[in-house]
Amino acid sequence: MKSPAVAVVILAAGKGTRMRSERPKVLFEVAGRPMVNHVLEAALGIRPKAVVVVVGHGAADVRRAVKGDLAFDPRVTRFALQRDQRGTGHALRCALYALRGFRGTVLVLNGDVPLVGPETLRTLAEAHRRAGSAATVLTFRPADPTGYGRVVRDGRGALLDIVEEKDADFETRTIAEVNAGLYAFDAAVLPAALRRLRAGNSQGELYLTDVPRLLRREGRPVGAVRVLEPEVVAGVNTLSELARASASMRSRVLERFLAAGVEIVDPSTSFVAPDAAIGAGTRIEPFTVVEGGVRVGKGCTVGPFARLRRGTVLEDGASIGNFVEVKATRMGRGSRARHLSYLGDATVGRRVNVGAGTITCNYDGRRKHATVVGDGAFLGSGTLLVAPVTVGRGASTGAGAVVLAGRGVPPGAVAVGVPARILRRMRKGG
Ligand code: UD1
Ligand code: CA
Repeated sequence: MKSPAVAVVILAAGKGTRMRSERPKVLFEVAGRPMVNHVLEAALGIRPKAVVVVVGHGAADVRRAVKGDLAFDPRVTRFALQRDQRGTGHALRCALYALRGFRGTVLVLNGDVPLVGPETLRTLAEAHRRAGSAATVLTFRPADPTGYGRVVRDGRGALLDIVEEKDADFETRTIAEVNAGLYAFDAAVLPAALRRLRAGNSQGELYLTDVPRLLRREGRPVGAVRVLEPEVVAGVNTLSELARASASMRSRVLERFLAAGVEIVDPSTSFVAPDAAIGAGTRIEPFTVVEGGVRVGKGCTVGPFARLRRGTVLEDGASIGNFVEVKATRMGRGSRARHLSYLGDATVGRRVNVGAGTITCNYDGRRKHATVVGDGAFLGSGTLLVAPVTVGRGASTGAGAVVLAGRGVPPGAVAVGVPARILRRMRKGG
């Protein structure tokens, strides 16, 4: 049998009162990326016909963040507006117009489940299809079920209902299995079921979680699948849960690098962006930050206490030591900056020694300028390179030299002083 088409709806209109912030909850970042965009990436990973993002609170900001994401695909992604936040069931109702004419399976994903991946969504869609259900709920057993909707099953394990914690009696609260906030529905049943939702609950909202019960009462098959790794589907409602999700994501990313042969000495103090690339045999020392898009070759050393920012490329065998910040800079093979430096917008050749305290003065108050350092150059301690500036191949600077913009140091020459003057030109081979 051919699998039915899949569309995805991401619920991202809520305010997130429990974060205690005006900022829409789904814009809080995990691993440097808004939560909603992690969910979007997972959704796009299963190649759906369409993705509808329901926005409401801070709609313009959420829309902008989604459109600005690397994973954003304008051909399949649309937005729906939920003007007033009247609950998750109402939010899904607001997406129906964008889904008109669609037949198949609709996956509905809370926008605050940042660690979910495409495999889990595929498992959900597949279980839904195999059982021929009208609705399938993804469930799990968290260490602490507080705050989640409890999953009520009958004696034979069939799904009866989802009861929100605020509406649950004592006995129901002791249930360990909860709703992950990820669902599959047959598109055909949604309009009528959502119309029938009522706000007769403690929060006065239209709960999406009432839909399975309504469908079951009509005699339609509903199901539940439990995922075994709770951390994958944990929801984020508070800053504390956000910190935990970030920690989970971070260790997942570090494990991937460790498995690929990157020696991370202390994972608990190493921050490596998921989209950084690091070669095998490289050693990441403690208290080190490697940001998004950074590329590090093989056999490099980074840290302790180093920060590699966007646009940085370290070629094989390069070495960045303590209290060194590198931004939009290329370090050639075997080049070293071991102590107390800032290298920004620079191209550093091979086997260059960047002395302690060397700074590229790349910003003149208005614009950023480039620095070029040739192969084999030796920069003395405390050299200031006022960009735009070039230090030639094999050139050296004395301690504390200030090389002014536009002047530079010719290949093989030695420059000293403030402002730096050329002391001598080295003879060939000298
Ligand atoms: C929801 C579920 C709960 C489940 C939990 C899993 C309901 C009623 N409850 O609770 O059973 O265990 O998720 O994490 O669905 N949103 C809107 N519009 C609204 C309200 C919410 O778009 O009017 C969005 C939010 O932005 C969020 C998602 O829906 O991304 C879930 O809302 P939230 O308030 O966090 O629901 P929970 O209380 O966590
Ligand atoms: Ca939530």
